[in-house]
Amino acid sequence: MNRVLFQSNFYVKFKAPNSQELIDYIESIDDSLINNQIFNWGKMCSSDKIALKSQELMKFISPNINELYERLKSKFFYNLYDPWLNLYKRKDFQEIHAHHPCHLSSVFFANDGEGFSKFYFSDRHSNDIHPKLGKLIGYKPINVVEYNRGDILFFPSYLLHGITPHNSDTIRKTLSFNFDILD
Ligand SMILES: [Fe+2]
Repeated sequence: MNRVLFQSNFYVKFKAPNSQELIDYIESIDDSLINNQIFNWGKMCSSDKIALKSQELMKFISPNINELYERLKSKFFYNLYDPWLNLYKRKDFQEIHAHHPCHLSSVFFANDGEGFSKFYFSDRHSNDIHPKLGKLIGYKPINVVEYNRGDILFFPSYLLHGITPHNSDTIRKTLSFNFDILD
């Protein structure tokens, strides 16, 4: 009997119930709104960002939180932080990072295609395991999350993750947001 001990490393991914509505909204946002300089992160990555307002996004996000309730079999109140749009040109990428100290983070994938960047998680404890033991158990320090256009991903904000270099001339678009669970 083999058992994984702790549930702290997890993600939830599903097709957004309002995926086309979200895609249409994202496609309606003009590139002239790119405002990378207002973000206090992003010095180590190459991507464009557009800041959005959580009040405007609530109607798009809440159906997905409702679906998350179903998947987690638990409801909660939450505080949504302002979302933002990520735009990846060819060769853009994002270095490994986390969204600490938020509680949960989310990414909505507005498009996909040949050569598109991959989203991956990186185990922050990867140096703890001896290479010989790692080989024995087939340990992987990196886990790529496959996604399709219209998928939404939720994960604990402390999980390290990154985006591989984008190898397409189609701009890769994702919507990201963080939220805290309230008492
Ligand atoms: Fe991130």
